[in-house]
Amino acid sequence: MAKEKFYITTPIYYPSDKLHIGHSYCTVATDTMARYKRLRGYDVMFLTGTDEHGQKIERIATSQGMTPKEYTDKIVVGIKELWKTLHISYDKFIRTTDDYHIKAVQKIFKQLYDQGDIYKSSYEGWYCTPCESFFTEHQLVDGKCPDCGRDVELLKEESYFFRLSKYQDRIIKYMEENPEFLQPNTRQNEMINNFLKPGLEDLAVSRTSFKWGVPVEFDPGHIVYVWIDALSNYITALGWGSDDDSLYQKFWPADIHVVGKEIVRFHSIIWPAMLMALDMPLPKQIFGHGWLVINGGKMSKSVGNVVDPNVLVDKYGVDAIRYFLLREIAFGQDGNFNNEALIQRINSDLANDLGNLVSRTVGMIEKYFGGTLPADRTETPFDADLKAVAAATIPKVEEKMEHLFFSDALAEIWNLIRRTNKYIDETQPWILCKDESKKGELANALYNVAESIRIVSILIQPFMPLTPAKIWAQLHITEDMTSWESTKTWGILPAELSVEKGETLFPRIDMKKELAELEAAIKASQATSIANQQKKAEEKKEEESKYPAEITIDDFCKVQLKVGEVLESTAVEGSKKLLRNVIKIGDEERVIFSGIKDTYAPGALVGKRVVVAYNLKPRKMMGEMSYGMILCAEDGDGKLSILTTDDKDFASGSEIS
Ligand code: MSP
Repeated sequence: MAKEKFYITTPIYYPSDKLHIGHSYCTVATDTMARYKRLRGYDVMFLTGTDEHGQKIERIATSQGMTPKEYTDKIVVGIKELWKTLHISYDKFIRTTDDYHIKAVQKIFKQLYDQGDIYKSSYEGWYCTPCESFFTEHQLVDGKCPDCGRDVELLKEESYFFRLSKYQDRIIKYMEENPEFLQPNTRQNEMINNFLKPGLEDLAVSRTSFKWGVPVEFDPGHIVYVWIDALSNYITALGWGSDDDSLYQKFWPADIHVVGKEIVRFHSIIWPAMLMALDMPLPKQIFGHGWLVINGGKMSKSVGNVVDPNVLVDKYGVDAIRYFLLREIAFGQDGNFNNEALIQRINSDLANDLGNLVSRTVGMIEKYFGGTLPADRTETPFDADLKAVAAATIPKVEEKMEHLFFSDALAEIWNLIRRTNKYIDETQPWILCKDESKKGELANALYNVAESIRIVSILIQPFMPLTPAKIWAQLHITEDMTSWESTKTWGILPAELSVEKGETLFPRIDMKKELAELEAAIKASQATSIANQQKKAEEKKEEESKYPAEITIDDFCKVQLKVGEVLESTAVEGSKKLLRNVIKIGDEERVIFSGIKDTYAPGALVGKRVVVAYNLKPRKMMGEMSYGMILCAEDGDGKLSILTTDDKDFASGSEIS
């Protein structure tokens, strides 16, 4: 029978040289779900990637003296490296700079334009570059971006618009009829009440003021808005719009888009509207998880509070970090990242409960039976309850995993681990071993504990990529004993189980000593990151001072320069530097103040031809309006020299171009 498919995605990440533990959280959770579904026998497609276009990237790349593609090529290497460190088992990594993606986005844009879902108009509004989001005046909070609180820019551009408003009622209806579509439920209420019901405005979906994006094929100069480009990745990665769309046919619609809460709006409104317009089925679920926060605030490179996942993995291993992230915080809610809580979890849940269970079980089988259990076993009065708890655990874990309740699923597994530890205390092998007639009970108790460990080792697989194999090596568990279904049968381990002591799974940590070390390591990595940022900012400043920002010929043409004849040039009372000049420009006479008295004595300029910035906004100086500016060259010592025409009688009012 063909396997059932399961398509799960993370958001595609903005290229950043410092993806932090918050970013990792989202990907680790998605990976855990993908691993779980593979274990359950699904044909899984797990997609992740990078969202590489947009003004923000263009600006960063330019500031580092690179093309945007050179910059993203460099960053993507680091992102893939981090996913390797965290054992992220993605099936496909898409980059929005990939050729096939660009072509498919162009196709989507054209199709929507041809069918009238995209039209051309002009946009005036506020734009937050870090969030790559447009806002209307009333959406701003204290004049700042409502999502990140940073400054916004006023934009006026010719733009293509997507008829988002047309889909508003259909999306509300869809959400109401499909309560599973947007999870957790609170996110759905938020979207309906805060965005959909107040009314959607059509969305500006092209930009002209910068170049780094997917070009609109039929209108050069326009590039596709990054969110249209980015959201499309979920279908372009499957080959939609290419010669081979077999993956699209097989995997679409997505089963779950896992996203952070701040981008739920894009995924649950814009994306469904795009799909409705394209006449494609909607994803089955969007899960908006919460944020990992530090002392209540969001982690951010600019605040300098980011926690580097590499530092944590180096110190405690990938399994401990993945376990902590998914156990400590209920998926869907915000949670504080806290060093003490991390060490506490490692010590109590991992070293004590699980690690100790495995090591003492293996130790006892070695000590009491020379490493191999005898086949003759006698039941104990405590067996039934242990078996019952194990049997009840599996459906509970399955149910929690279906809802992405990772923390609850882990709590169920740990409940079984603790029950198994309690079973050891109940059966008291250290007493049974003293009585030859109790050998059968002793063997039985240790067999049951080992069997329970086997079940646990299978259940933790989605969360911990390395620990199960370490347990299997110690209990000589072979692959045929590790299927998910095998957890539902008690007694899969061979009767004459043999064991072999291995490395300690999770060494105990000295909290006090380690806390200081961990804080120092995190601070050191934050300091390096801040120092790098400062260095980059200084390099940028230096670079800019060498090469002032370029302007276009259109910008230059905005400045009107004209030849003027100086009629009067007098000192200004109360000013050391200013001269009050009366300049004849063609038929008109203008007063222009100029700070050149150190170089030109009053009257010295009379009769000279000067160059005047003619359309400068007038401004008040010394109580009188000044209409323009006389252009001067300035040497390094502050000495000035007016610019003039070669022909000293050249007609005043002549244009300079
Ligand atoms: N590029 C967009 C997504 C486009 S998807 C079509 C984007 N990228 S991102 O790099 O800023 O964020 C990627 C994911 O990381 C988001 O889901 C975001 O919520 C998540 N996180 C970033 N910081 C986080 C925390 N501190 N905590 C939890 N998740 C966080 O958004």
